[in-house]
Parts: sequence; structure tokens; C-alpha cells
Amino acid sequence: KGDIAILAIESSCDETAAAVVVNGRDVRSNIISSQIALHTLYGGVVPEIASRKHIEKINQVITEAMQEAQADWADIDAIGVTYGPGLVGALLVGVAEAKAISYARNIPLVGVHHIEGHISANYIENKELEPPFLCLVVSGGHTHLVKVLDYGKYEILGRTRDDAAGEAFDKVARAIGLGYPGGPKIEKVAHEGNPHAVEFPRPKIADGEYDFSFSGLKSAVLNHLNSCKMKGIEIVQADIAASFQKAVIDVLVGNAMHAIEKYQIDKFAIAGGVASNGTLRGAMEEECRKRNVAFYHPSPILCTDNAAMIGAAAYYDYRAGIRSGLDLNAVPNLKL
Ligand code: KG4
Ligand code: ZN
Repeated sequence: KGDIAILAIESSCDETAAAVVVNGRDVRSNIISSQIALHTLYGGVVPEIASRKHIEKINQVITEAMQEAQADWADIDAIGVTYGPGLVGALLVGVAEAKAISYARNIPLVGVHHIEGHISANYIENKELEPPFLCLVVSGGHTHLVKVLDYGKYEILGRTRDDAAGEAFDKVARAIGLGYPGGPKIEKVAHEGNPHAVEFPRPKIADGEYDFSFSGLKSAVLNHLNSCKMKGIEIVQADIAASFQKAVIDVLVGNAMHAIEKYQIDKFAIAGGVASNGTLRGAMEEECRKRNVAFYHPSPILCTDNAAMIGAAAYYDYRAGIRSGLDLNAVPNLKL
């Protein structure tokens, strides 16, 4: 028949997701059951609760994905599943489910790296995008500047030495009383604030040209809040949010443009939850335009965790002959 249809499953953090993707770029269904409301009560993702919720939801999410795609099991050429990195108990639910379907229905299994999934989200809406290109992956757990040399072939130019960009958003949001998840909430209130109200540091790593560090910036925000309290200065949430967001964006844009110039990159993409930030997207777009670099980004729904991106990545792995056995295990700290 020629076409390759993948049923993809994602459960690495707090979204239970399944999708049917044909030939890596044609999304026939993309079902996401979000646990965010549940974890908001605790100010962050509670791993034990995440695992239990995945178990409750996973069969329903897969059934919906198959129905919406009008797919029969006989149409599915492979099951793609995230096996790392992520929360081990959360990952295990998706991996066990994928293995069970693979065994029971005799369908090949392809284990997918979560970051490879985020990068591959760019293929879905940009049909012309092909490697090589540079990709900045910014999520709650990762901040990686990656050269995509070919499908499934990556070279990491830089990474965070401490907190991920999304983690910094979440921690600062909590400190200024915005709650979880911090990214979207900071972006929203930042629209009302002055990004130059507080000059937070733009941390640079001396010995790692393209590496990132966000914990110092987070501390600077906390110190600023404390000193305002001590001096009785009123804290303007929107100004802090806007100034912090500007500092993160300046660092991300600065590093990416430095690599673009050094390696003479002509195609640049962003990915991961933080890539859904419209102010970041706008800044990247403008800097790319100045340098005549083609800029790519997924729609917000494909930036945050989803299974369509896992289906896109699984397709290229499948095409390269990669298959996982029934001994596939969850690997919480899986390397790219
Ligand atoms: O990719 P993702 O859904 O999960 C991980 O793989 O980590 O990313 C979630 C992260 C969270 O830290 C969240 O605060 C951040 O992405 N995020 C944002 C925005 N939307 C989500 N950060 C900044 N601006 C946003 N609009
Ligand atoms: Zn993710």
C-alpha cells in the first residue's frame, strides 16, 4: 500500500496522549488528556498521581485516536512510544501499553526519544522542512541546542547546566504567586508589564559556548522580591513577569543566533513547551529574518507534550529499520 501508519503513544509527564500519523507528517488524530488541572492543586507535577492517571486514561485515549483516524488495527504498521526521558512511573504506563498491543496484535514496536519527538513536531506543519537544520528544544525538563544532521542523527551544541527554561518559568511563576504551570501564566501577565522594569542578569557560561544556565536568573528574581519586601517597595507582578521573560528570551535568542552565525545555518526551528510562547517566537522570527534564515515553529498544541510528534519521529526511525523488542524499558534519563 506504500503508506506507513503509526499509532503513537506519549505518557512521559502529565499528558496522556495517542495519535495516528501517516508517513510522519499527516496527522489523522491527536488526542491529549491533560492532567494539568489535577497537578495545579499541588503546584507542580506529582509523579505518583501522574502514573495513576495515565493508567486510568490510556485505553480511552488510544481508542479515541483510532476512532477519530477511522483506522483499523490492520492499517497500523507500527506502534511508536516514548520510552525516555521523563518520569519513570509515567513512562512505564505508555511503554507497557505499547508492548501489550505490539504483542497481542503482532505489530512492530518503535521506542522513541521524547526530545526527538519535540524536534519532529516541526515536520508536521512544515512539509518542506528536512534536515539539516538547527533546533532549540525548550521544555520543562530540557534546554538543548541541537544540530539535526539527518533524520535520527543529532549533535548537541549546548544544553542547560542547571534548570531548564520551562522549569525557570514554573519556579518564578510560583514565587510571584501565579501558580502552575508557570509558562503560559507568565506570558499572559507579561503583556501588561514593562520588560525593562527590572534589569535581571543574562547569564552566560564561560567555558561552554552554547550552554545555558537559568538558576542564577531564578535566584536574581527571588532576591529582587525579597529586597522589595524588606524595603517596602510594591511588587508589580506584571513587571517582574515581563522583565524575567525578556531575560530568558534574550539568552535563548543570543545563544541560537551565535550558533547560526558560527555554523552558517540557513534553517532554524524551535520546539518544546516554551516554544509555544508567542513573545519568544516573535523575537526568534525577527532575528532570523535579519539574517535571512528560514524560521520554523510548531503550533502551540504541537509544542507542548503530544503524541503526534512521537508518531512523526517514530516514522523516520521505522523507515531507518529501527525496531524495539518486547524487552523495551522506560529510561528516565535517556540521552539523545
Ligand atoms: O514540552 P512540555 O509540555 O513538557 C516537557 O517535556 O517538559 O513543556 C512544559 C513546559 C512547562 O515548564 C511550561 O511552563 C512551559 O513548557 N510552557 C511555557 C509556555 N507554555 C508552556 N513557557 C513559556 N511560555 C509559554 N507560553
Ligand atoms: Zn516534552
